[in-house]
Amino acid sequence: MPVLQVEAYTSQDWFDREQETIFSRTWQFAGFVEDLSDPGDYLTVQAGLNNILVLLDENKQMRAFHNICRHRGTQLLRASGKRKQFITCPYHDWTYNLDGKLTAVPERKSQFPDLDLDSLCLHKASVGIWRGAIFVHPDPDANSLANWFSPVEPYLGPHKPEKLVEYVEGRSRHEINANWKIIVENYIDGYHLAHLHSATLFMYDHRRQQTGFAGNHFYFYEPLAKDYLAGIENNSPLPLIDSIPKDKIGAYTPMLFPNLGLSETESSWSTFCVIPVAPDKSIVEIRTKVMPASDWQYMTQEWKSWNFFKNRKWDKYGTGDADDPLASGDFMAEDIYVCEQQQRSLKSPYFSIGAIAKDLERAVYQYQKNVQNYVEAR
Ligand code: FES
Ligand SMILES: [Fe+2]
Repeated sequence: MPVLQVEAYTSQDWFDREQETIFSRTWQFAGFVEDLSDPGDYLTVQAGLNNILVLLDENKQMRAFHNICRHRGTQLLRASGKRKQFITCPYHDWTYNLDGKLTAVPERKSQFPDLDLDSLCLHKASVGIWRGAIFVHPDPDANSLANWFSPVEPYLGPHKPEKLVEYVEGRSRHEINANWKIIVENYIDGYHLAHLHSATLFMYDHRRQQTGFAGNHFYFYEPLAKDYLAGIENNSPLPLIDSIPKDKIGAYTPMLFPNLGLSETESSWSTFCVIPVAPDKSIVEIRTKVMPASDWQYMTQEWKSWNFFKNRKWDKYGTGDADDPLASGDFMAEDIYVCEQQQRSLKSPYFSIGAIAKDLERAVYQYQKNVQNYVEAR
């Protein structure tokens, strides 16, 4: 039986409870360490009910604060930016330094004669770095990031993302008309790989997938298909990541609780962050790192791979209709299509889950349980 009922995917009440009990109480992905390089560089990220500001202080130490002014609560900084010397609120110009101390209040003498600036520092949040990525937690005394991820560490790829470089053109953002859990359930569903993606993910051996849970995190590994692996040095369209031993090569695609998928493959390392926007709307942001290599090396590698891919048919139904996601040859478009269709069906009085694959879809119910545990623990 499904653990979560339809309302969990459609109601505002459920959405609000998740924001409070899951996203405000877990570590959230905020970016890569390279995003901040100089004192005063900053970025902002939503963590459930909280907007968090991450910056480098004068000593280049990373700090996180709640992005709300201590005067009357206005959001201080937007999006991301470079080399701020102070943080000034747009509403009445209260100003904080990079340590979060309130340093200036306009018309202070006449309007706030008794104000104690020291008592109105920015509220602290927690920030941590793991595998070259920045994570935040709204609670300044949160359990450490290392502890949070330690159960799943043994099941992740041998990749060293700190040594890779971001492929900036590969950054993408998808607005998807589906609840965030529909997208997560699609990500951890081992059953659909050989079917929905029969024409797009044939490079992997789906029958040999190894999956499970460690802590609240889902892990997944599958090796490369034999014919792809046999000539992998030529077949790979991207330069191979050289730190991966040949017997460990394959796809590691964990879903770190609650909403960060990783895709660790023979040639790339990506983050897949599912951001809830509304009960039936989410945004997926994807960032990808690859081997540092010259443009020439990238070009020659792509040419070499042409032999393996040239005769493939990428179009699931062979319709040749470029506007059809199922004929696009793009596995992400295929996934978005089924997620949106499934979300629509939730409204039908005829919707129910008929059965679930005992091994290949087992993770779906387990993930639902993990979500439910958080929501009920409030
Ligand atoms: S709310 Fe920020 S200065 Fe007034
Ligand atoms: Fe998929």
